[in-house]
Amino acid sequence: MHDPTSDDPEGMTIRERSQHSGPAPAGTASAGRSGLGAEEPLVDRLGRGLDDLRISVIDRCNYRCTFCMPADRDYQFLPREELLTFEEIARLAGLFVGLGVHKIRLTGGEPLLRKDLPALVEMLASIDGVEDLALTTNGVLLERMAEPLAAAGLRRVTVSLESLRDDRYGAINGVGHPVAPILRGIEAAQRAGLEPVKVNVVVQRGVNDDEVVDLARELGRRRCVVRFIEFMDVGTLNDWGEAKVLSAREIVQRVAAELPLTPRARRRASDTALRHEYLGGTPDGPPAGLEVGAIASITEPFCGDCTRARLTSEGALHTCLFSHAGLDLKAPLRGGATDAQIERLIADRWRRRADRYSEERAERMASGSRVAEPKIEMYRIGG
Ligand code: GTP
Ligand code: 5AD
Ligand code: SF4
Ligand code: SF4
Repeated sequence: MHDPTSDDPEGMTIRERSQHSGPAPAGTASAGRSGLGAEEPLVDRLGRGLDDLRISVIDRCNYRCTFCMPADRDYQFLPREELLTFEEIARLAGLFVGLGVHKIRLTGGEPLLRKDLPALVEMLASIDGVEDLALTTNGVLLERMAEPLAAAGLRRVTVSLESLRDDRYGAINGVGHPVAPILRGIEAAQRAGLEPVKVNVVVQRGVNDDEVVDLARELGRRRCVVRFIEFMDVGTLNDWGEAKVLSAREIVQRVAAELPLTPRARRRASDTALRHEYLGGTPDGPPAGLEVGAIASITEPFCGDCTRARLTSEGALHTCLFSHAGLDLKAPLRGGATDAQIERLIADRWRRRADRYSEERAERMASGSRVAEPKIEMYRIGG
């Protein structure tokens, strides 16, 4: 078993040229310069705009979560030269912002394994038009990275945590890593001002569903916004089945039975979470007004408002978390394409987009049909 706190858990060092100084590369400050004409709003075939960009910075992970990349398999990771460089990521991000993106989230694999990540954060934070810059992490390296990431311009972090019990957590993360360092990472993020820290909890019936209230109470007491996630059929490796899904509705009912809640309106139509807030008044419980959410992508899919584009660490654009075929942007990037040419590729792809995987799954589940489609693995697309 490898040491998940090592920066280099796979025994391969991935180096980046240091980007701490020097001017931003061309193409990193292109907000509003779409060249498509203001009269032409960029919408897909279902009328959905392009608002969010989720960028996977690495496909490696120091965990082997049972619901994502089970430990009993071998994984082939990308060689270093296949990963987009920071300059390439920043150039693409600038082009996406020019096409309407306001919100960027960095993901992985485990994004904190990417060397010098704060340098990338700094480049992205300097793009005019980026209103929100967030990161999703398993938290293993967060205690030492929170401060430099915040200093580089990161606004928020989301930490994944499925259990507060070491034995169970170690089994779920597949490498026996304990809970305490993750809680310290969350505290470090709060000290660094990356608030509110959100905590994603994938709930699996029979695995951790008995801990829903404990997690809500303990993480709420720590001022974290918990988002319980219905176990999804992402990728092809996690042996998904409907019987393992605890519905968001049931999760909320269980929490509310112990910790009184009131619903909150969605902030944006594309929000993933059904949001509630605590009413407070429970000794040692979450404070009144703190948010708690549940993400119901199985039982109440939200494809109708999905404005998320995803960029893999090798530079493929995916227009759905469950899509198989991505559009290769690295080849044109490295082949000398101009900004306008790449922008056109992205815009054309978005205009052709008709993805609504979770809604189609719900329709299939309702009709009892089973179709196994090829799907990208979660650790490659970043959740
Ligand atoms: P905020 O930026 O804080 O609103 O977070 P977010 O909900 O956009 O992002 P986050 O990565 O925290 O999402 C939480 C989880 O929701 C992810 O890990 C996925 O499991 C799920 N999720 C996010 N986006 C999508 C999506 O587009 N489709 C589906 N089916 N699930 C998604
Ligand atoms: N179902 C739901 N969420 C998942 N995640 C990973 N695998 C799954 C799954 N099968 C979530 C993790 C993490 C994010 C990257 O994706 O909780 O927060
Ligand atoms: Fe777990 Fe995230 Fe790593 Fe997948 S990428 S194994 S969900 S920590
Ligand atoms: Fe968007 Fe695809 Fe998720 Fe639906 S399943 S919300 S289209 S990413």
